[in-house]
Amino acid sequence: MTKIAVMGAGSIGCYVGGRLAAAGAAVVLIGRERLARELAAHGLTVTDYRGYSATLGSGRFTYATTAAAAAHADLVLVTVKSAGTAGAAQELAGTLRDDAVVVSLQNGIGNAGTLRASLPAQTVLAGMVPFNVVQRGDGAFHQGTEGELEVERHARLDAFAPAFARAGLPLVQHDDLRPVQWAKLLLNLNNPINALSDLPLKTQLSQRAYRRCLALAQREGLDVLAAAGIRPAQLTRVPPHWIPRVLALPDVLFRVIAAGMLAIDPLARSSMWEDLQAQRATEVDWINGEIVALAERIGRSAPVNARLVALVHAAEQGGPRRWEGRALLEALSRGDHA
Ligand SMILES: NC(=O)c1ccc[n+]([C@@H]2O[C@H](COP(=O)([O-])OP(=O)(O)OC[C@H]3O[C@@H](n4cnc5c(N)ncnc54)[C@H](OP(=O)(O)O)[C@@H]3O)[C@@H](O)[C@H]2O)c1
Repeated sequence: MTKIAVMGAGSIGCYVGGRLAAAGAAVVLIGRERLARELAAHGLTVTDYRGYSATLGSGRFTYATTAAAAAHADLVLVTVKSAGTAGAAQELAGTLRDDAVVVSLQNGIGNAGTLRASLPAQTVLAGMVPFNVVQRGDGAFHQGTEGELEVERHARLDAFAPAFARAGLPLVQHDDLRPVQWAKLLLNLNNPINALSDLPLKTQLSQRAYRRCLALAQREGLDVLAAAGIRPAQLTRVPPHWIPRVLALPDVLFRVIAAGMLAIDPLARSSMWEDLQAQRATEVDWINGEIVALAERIGRSAPVNARLVALVHAAEQGGPRRWEGRALLEALSRGDHA
């Protein structure tokens, strides 16, 4: 039977790994000790917004706390946050079989490249998770929004695709995943704005000043991508170039025209907010930082996103973490004209 290892048992790792195990795959989850205790006590429950639900006792999957557990894996799904990728890659490097396939199911653009640098013998592919998963405690992981797993096309995936289809998570393969990754990144430019607002996503996006911050960051991102010759894919009903215009609408119009964008659990927050809350390193360098880095590579600048990166790093060090919308807009606009 195909052996699947999940490196980074957290929200995405436990959800995807749990669904694969529920459909009969041999799955080992590799993660921290605290989750080992939680899953031993409660089992692993995976649910989704369509009503899917499965609870797995500890006999249905394996849990390990070191990468050594991936030694026999045919497929490794990497689901650590971006700040942990280089470390996870080094741990896997001494362990994996040369013929293992490694798929990064992470946000950002560069994680598969980071993995490839440490795993030159293995087949390393980029992936993208469009849906949101929240940890509900007591071993429960819930997919709250729609979307399918998107991955780089490769013949080696043919052996694993049926297991994902059986699990209800079919793999959508792309010859070039980068337009999809950049489109997701443009949406994720809101993560630092949400984190700095200290508000639930729905409340934050209901306020025009915060939406104008996101519109600024997205317009800048779109300009940099266009200058670099990258066309982001369309992941939402509204094409990427229209989203900043919709965001900038007055609140009343936005509520009517973009009701879908506000169809969010009223308590949901970005994972960057959670990272700040838990005093963990955030993914801001792998999200907004990618726009700044791309701009630099083509001889331009991206002051709005650079400012967001700086403000989140300041917040990581104990700086301001409860920005009012207009104050944040002003701070970003200053950057815009810098
Ligand atoms: N959650 C979502 O809804 C969602 C949706 C789409 C995409 N994504 C992306 O998916 C990726 C994973 O996000 P996530 O929310 O699932 O993260 P997460 O909940 O933080 O899960 C990652 C887990 O891996 C652990 N870990 C890190 N390095 C490890 C290592 N070397 N060995 C064992 N365990 C290790 C982490 O522990 P520590 O915290 O102790 O390091 C954490 O428990 C990110 O790139 C994220 O942006 C997430």
